Amino acid sequence: MRFLILFTIFTFLVSPLRAVDIWGPTGHRAVGEIAEINLSKKAKRAIEKLLDGQSLALVSTYADEIRSDGRYDQYAPWHYVNFPFDSTFEAHPRSEQGDLYGAIHKCISVLEDDSSSKDDKAFFLKLLVHFIGDLHQPLHVGIADDRGGNRFQVQWYDEGTNLHTVWDTKILETYGMSYLELSLNRKDLTAAEKEAIQSGTVKDWMYESRGLCLQIYENTEVGENLKYRYMYDYADLVRSQLQKGGLRLAKILNEVFD
Ligand code: ADE
Ligand code: ZN
Ligand code: ZN
Repeated sequence: MRFLILFTIFTFLVSPLRAVDIWGPTGHRAVGEIAEINLSKKAKRAIEKLLDGQSLALVSTYADEIRSDGRYDQYAPWHYVNFPFDSTFEAHPRSEQGDLYGAIHKCISVLEDDSSSKDDKAFFLKLLVHFIGDLHQPLHVGIADDRGGNRFQVQWYDEGTNLHTVWDTKILETYGMSYLELSLNRKDLTAAEKEAIQSGTVKDWMYESRGLCLQIYENTEVGENLKYRYMYDYADLVRSQLQKGGLRLAKILNEVFD
């Protein structure tokens, strides 16, 4: 009994610190699925070989799955990049543990290196699929003060949570579509619109998320009870971010495997 009480107290104390800081699986899988549809034949073939036939949607959550395995602890800070609102990515000292921006470039460089082993290429490809998803979650380009909104308390339909979780999972959960439905119902873009989305650099895309993050902070108050109106304001933005993530991931992969 004493153990049970201690265990309960421990879990209660520790769980907020370990708050899941992930686009839920649905968001990551939607990015993987939309990327898959936009792969060149050549890239598709190369990726199929590397991943032994697994889909990009399936492997998109691997980077979160390995978080429960201590051997992969070094990759935990790779899921996000933080810098203060009154500073810039360039001006602010980079985290020594690594960040999302460095992580994406590391993944690309392993994939482009002819001397990388198949296992390494497969590992960093799975991480890349995930990290391009994270890059499009605005709170993953956030501020360290509140750990990307993990310590920004709000309510979601009357229940306590935090702003980060709202953007990782709550909006998508409430929207209620599976990753396949999100992909099937993606916006029908013209070639020019697609090209515009796929243009630019990883840094441009990071700053785009940062702009959205700023807007979110301007429009959300600590303790606020977010519900229908928040969905009305932001559900389409989340869908659009997932589509952009998928298109940009495909662009990177089509270039890498050209
Ligand atoms: N932990 C600290 N900052 C974070 C962020 N921006 N996103 C996810 N987890 C974090
Ligand atoms: Zn997250
Ligand atoms: Zn992540």
